[in-house]
Amino acid sequence: MCGIVGYIGFREAWPIVIKGLKRLEYRGYDSAGIALIDNNDLNIYKKAGKVKELEDFAEGQNLTGTIGMGHTRWATHGAPSDRNSHPHTSNNGRLSIIHNGIIENYAILKDELEQRGHTFNSDTDTEVLIHLIEEIYKNEKTDLLEAVRLALKEVSGAYAIVVMDQDNPDELIAARKGSPMVIGVGQGEYFIASDATPIIEYTKNVIYLNDNEIAFLKRDELLIKRLDNVVQTPYVQELELKLEMLEKGGYDHFMLKEIYEQPRSIRDCLRGRIYPEEGKVQLSGIKEFVDKLKNIDRIIIVACGTSWHAGLVGEYLIEEYSRIPVEVEYASEFRYRNPIITEKDVVIAISQSGETADTMAAIEMAKEKGATIFGICNVVGASIPRLTHAGVYTHAGPEIGVASTKAFTAQVTVLTLIAFYLAQQKGTITNSKLIELLTELDNIPDKVQIALQSNDLIKSIGEKFKDSRNCLFLGRGSGFPVALEGALKLKEISYIHAEGYPAAEMKHGPIALIDEEMPVVVIATKNSSYEKVISNIQEVKARKGIVIAIVTEGDTEVKKMADYCIEIPDAAEAFLPLLATIPLQLLSYHIAVLRGCNVDQPRNLAKSVTVE
Ligand code: AGP
Repeated sequence: MCGIVGYIGFREAWPIVIKGLKRLEYRGYDSAGIALIDNNDLNIYKKAGKVKELEDFAEGQNLTGTIGMGHTRWATHGAPSDRNSHPHTSNNGRLSIIHNGIIENYAILKDELEQRGHTFNSDTDTEVLIHLIEEIYKNEKTDLLEAVRLALKEVSGAYAIVVMDQDNPDELIAARKGSPMVIGVGQGEYFIASDATPIIEYTKNVIYLNDNEIAFLKRDELLIKRLDNVVQTPYVQELELKLEMLEKGGYDHFMLKEIYEQPRSIRDCLRGRIYPEEGKVQLSGIKEFVDKLKNIDRIIIVACGTSWHAGLVGEYLIEEYSRIPVEVEYASEFRYRNPIITEKDVVIAISQSGETADTMAAIEMAKEKGATIFGICNVVGASIPRLTHAGVYTHAGPEIGVASTKAFTAQVTVLTLIAFYLAQQKGTITNSKLIELLTELDNIPDKVQIALQSNDLIKSIGEKFKDSRNCLFLGRGSGFPVALEGALKLKEISYIHAEGYPAAEMKHGPIALIDEEMPVVVIATKNSSYEKVISNIQEVKARKGIVIAIVTEGDTEVKKMADYCIEIPDAAEAFLPLLATIPLQLLSYHIAVLRGCNVDQPRNLAKSVTVE
């Protein structure tokens, strides 16, 4: 959480930093702040609320300076307020810092610093770090780079920081551990950001800072060293990101744009990986582990939120086709148990952002116990792909709406490919079956396009339920994780309480909730559990519940009993999650818009959860 931007160069810093903060706002939007140095004067502007409020607040003030840094906050320590907004300053007012992460030992450090006379102006953990740097700077009579390095050796926790000194207006110091940081390399200028999106329009050349590295930036000089003082050779990469990927492109919201991008994103995810005529799946990312994969005892999938739901779909597919047992774990629970993991296990970590703190910790733990770790990640160059032994990118493109949509279907697509790949390697599927499945999979983007055509109908259904207080989502088999995902989408963007349940479990409790006011969304497509789901719909109708059914096109049975039906194209059961998810995303979207909610930036949330 939290987004950080820094600039040093020949241009005015304010417009670059403020624009960068808008790009990073998906990471947190509790408050925003910017620091600039103008002729050895440190000017700080900060405000609770969104970046726009900071912009309005600063209008008309002195925004001059060719060195600056900014922060958009998702609050952890200290309420969202002006005083807790970053940047924070040292007691002498000379140094300032922005920080993404958590300083875990801040309380002990704060006590010590208070005893040495420091006074604090915020409730944040971050402010402690700048006071510590100030203290070391003063006592050790060293330069700022060394003071930051020594201070960081004393802190535990996660950080991506940028530090400025008004008395040294030609240098910026940046460092990271556990939180992401990218440095953009220009001609006579450098950019710093939590991801590449604020940088892309100025330069395509970037350096992803590694954990425990500290960067010293002047306008025409860059030095990177590790915290143990060993100088590093920077590895400059070229970004593949395109600017138009970061814009709404005529849609009202990023979420809607991303929902509509799914035919394209699924196709990109499949590109070069399937050969339907030959019945072959190729996953170059994990190819070198093929012998190991043939002999593994089980797969453990770790993830959070929507990515965890994708993992549950993966469990159905991998077990069905490759006959390898799969366990799906919440990363946050897994990391604090003492799970039994051996070198024979493969752990698949799924993460859109590649930054989720719990997922990263689960990976570290499984790695220590000797497991082989694969990643399924969307953001290229993020932390998770660096922690894993191998992996497969989802290639969905930047997902900016906080609610995950195209990343989910891309994750499910990759898991489908992994299931087929394992089946192919283990010989648990015939070539003719694989030809049939891959031919159909190749056609799924077109079917997703057809599913999107129900948008107007879905909007009209949304109008009927926009004032509901609760909603149930039911599904069986791989329709169950789809139901969970539908419920998560609705609750996170519309603030309507929603629960996903296996349809058959309803009678063990949730059925008590059903009355004439309860909308029940049921995944009732034609697959192996169709008849059973019909019985569940009848149980709901018998209690006067309102049924919104997702059905296969041409269905007549469910239509007789459901109040509303949304059709999706017919497809093999393996591909049901990719299609049935689409109307649920649209339903949540329209309900949230009709309720006047901020769908791209729902309250209390952030896109990357880099704290536990
Ligand atoms: C999805 O809509 C959520 N915003 C959230 O559950 C998300 O999927 C979760 O935080 C995991 O993020 P990741 O995929 O980036 O690891």
